[in-house]
Amino acid sequence: MKKIALLLAALAVIAVAIAWPREEFIASTSPAAWAPTPANIARGAYLARAGDCVACHTARGGAEYAGGRALDTPFGRLYGPNLTPDRDTGIGLWSADDFWNALHNGKSRDGRLLYPAFPYTNYTRVSRTDSDALYAYFRSLAPQRRPNQPHELDFPYNQQALLAGWRLLYFKPAVFTPQPARDLAWNRGAYLVEGLGHCSACHSTRNRLGATGESLSGGLIPTIGWYAPSLTASGEAGMKDWDKEHIVALLGTGISPRGSATGPMAEVVARSLQHLTANDLGAMATYLKSLPSTGAPVQDSGERAGEPLLAEGRRLYGSYCVDCHGADGQGKGNGKGAAYPPLAGNRAVTMTPAVNAIRLVLNGGFPPGTAGNPRPYGMPPYSHELNDAQVAAVLTYVRASWGNAAPPVAAQDVNRYRSVPLD
Ligand code: HEC
Ligand code: HEC
Ligand code: HEC
Repeated sequence: MKKIALLLAALAVIAVAIAWPREEFIASTSPAAWAPTPANIARGAYLARAGDCVACHTARGGAEYAGGRALDTPFGRLYGPNLTPDRDTGIGLWSADDFWNALHNGKSRDGRLLYPAFPYTNYTRVSRTDSDALYAYFRSLAPQRRPNQPHELDFPYNQQALLAGWRLLYFKPAVFTPQPARDLAWNRGAYLVEGLGHCSACHSTRNRLGATGESLSGGLIPTIGWYAPSLTASGEAGMKDWDKEHIVALLGTGISPRGSATGPMAEVVARSLQHLTANDLGAMATYLKSLPSTGAPVQDSGERAGEPLLAEGRRLYGSYCVDCHGADGQGKGNGKGAAYPPLAGNRAVTMTPAVNAIRLVLNGGFPPGTAGNPRPYGMPPYSHELNDAQVAAVLTYVRASWGNAAPPVAAQDVNRYRSVPLD
C-alpha cells in the first residue's frame, strides 16, 4: 500500500512539473545588443571566460567550443554540446532568444529540458544584455561540423519526466537583483560569483539528486574526489580573514601567501579567472569576504595524535618536505612570498576532510601557469616513496604543528585516495 501511495505521489509531482513549465521570458533591449559588432563580440568573449564555457564545451585536443568533452556525474556521463555556429551540428540556427532561453530557463532550442550538469541554475542570473553579448561572440566563431555525442545516463536519470520533477524541486529562473545597501563592487562580485562564475557548482554540497546548495559552504566534488572548501565564514576555510589582495592573487595568479590553487581550482584559474580584470577580481574578493556564516562551524573531533606518531611525522617532514615548506612550515618565497605555499596557518592543510592534502602528497601538483606566475613551482609526488602510514604520519604532523591544530589523518583515508583516478 505504502509503495503504491508513494508511486502515486511521485506521478502527481511529475504531472504538476510537466504542466508547470519553469520558465519566463525577458526580451532583448534591442537587436543592437546581439549585433556582431567588435564591441559586442569582445564583451561576449570576456563573459565566456568569466563563465568558463570552454571547460565543458571543448574536447581534449578538439576545436574550441565544438563540444565532446565528457563529464562524469554520479548519474552517468554527459557530453558538452557544440556551441559553434554550424547549422547542422551547432547553434547555427539559434536566435538570441533561443540562446538566452538555454542560459536562463535551461531549455534547448527544440524545447528539451537541459541537464543541470550545465550550470544553468547559476547562469539563470546572467542578464539578458550579457547573454546577448555571449550570443554575438559564439556566433562569431568559425563553424565546426561536429555532431553532438548522445549522453550516457543511467535509467531513470535519462527520463525527461524525472528532470521536470527535479526542476520543480530545485530550479527556478531568477534574475540578479542588486542590493541597494551594498556598493557597486559588492554587487558586481555577487553577480559574477553567483552567476557566470558558478562557484557553487563545486563549492557547495550536492544532495543525492545532484542539486547544489546556494551557500558556498563547501563540498566534496563527486566522481573526482576533491574537496572544494567552504568560502563562507563558518566553514573550515572561508575568506573572511584573508586580505583582499591575497584573494585577488589566488584567483588571478593561482598563488598567494595564504595558499595556492591546485587540482580543479588550478584549472578554473588557468582557463577562467586569470583572464578577468583587476576590477572584477577585486569585486569578487569583496563579495567573498562578506559572505556570512551559514550553519554550524565544522566540529573538531578533538582527536589528537600521540608523540610517537608525531615524532615519525617530524622525521619524515625533515627528510622529504622541509626544503620547500621550511622548518617552521612558513613556505618559501620567490620575491612575492608565495612560490612554495606555507603549511602553517594554511587551512587547505588543516581542513576536514583532508583529501586535498592527501592527494597532493600522493600525486604532487602544480599551481596553474598564469601571466602572473608563468613558471609555477611544483610539488613532487610521493606515492612511490611513502606508504599509507607514512603519508598519514607526515600529514598528521603538519596538521598539528606551528599553530595548526587539526585531527590526525588515518592510513585508511590515504589508501582510499590512492585509487581515485587523476583528472
Ligand atoms: C560544468 C560544465 C559546463 C559549463 C561550465 C558550461 N556548460 Fe553549457 N552545457 C553543458 C552540458 C553538459 C550541456 C548539455 C546539457 C543537456 O544536453 O541536457 C550544456 C548545454 C549548453 C547549451 C545548450 C546547447 C544545446 O544544443 O541544447 C548552451 C547554449 C550552453 N550549454 C551554453 C553555455 C555557455 C554560454 C556557457 C558559459 C557561460 C556554458 N554553456 C558553460 C555543460 C557546461
Ligand atoms: C620541491 C618542493 C616541494 C616539496 C619537497 C614538497 N612540497 Fe608540498 N608543495 C609544493 C608546491 C609548489 C605546492 C603548491 C602545489 C599546488 O598548488 O598544486 C605544495 C603544496 C602542498 C600542500 C597544499 C598547500 C596548498 O596551499 O594547497 C601540502 C599540504 C603540501 N604541499 C605538503 C607537503 C608535504 C607533506 C611534503 C613532504 C612529504 C611536501 N609538501 C613536499 C612544493 C613542495
Ligand atoms: C570545478 C570545481 C570548482 C569551481 C567551479 C570553483 N572552484 Fe574554487 N576550489 C575548488 C577546489 C577543489 C578547491 C580546493 C583546492 C585548492 O585549494 O586549490 C578550491 C579552492 C578555492 C579557493 C581557496 C580556498 C582556501 O581556503 O584555500 C578559493 C578562494 C576558491 N576556490 C574560490 C573560487 C571561486 C571564487 C570560484 C568561482 C569563480 C570557484 N572557486 C570555482 C574547485 C572549484
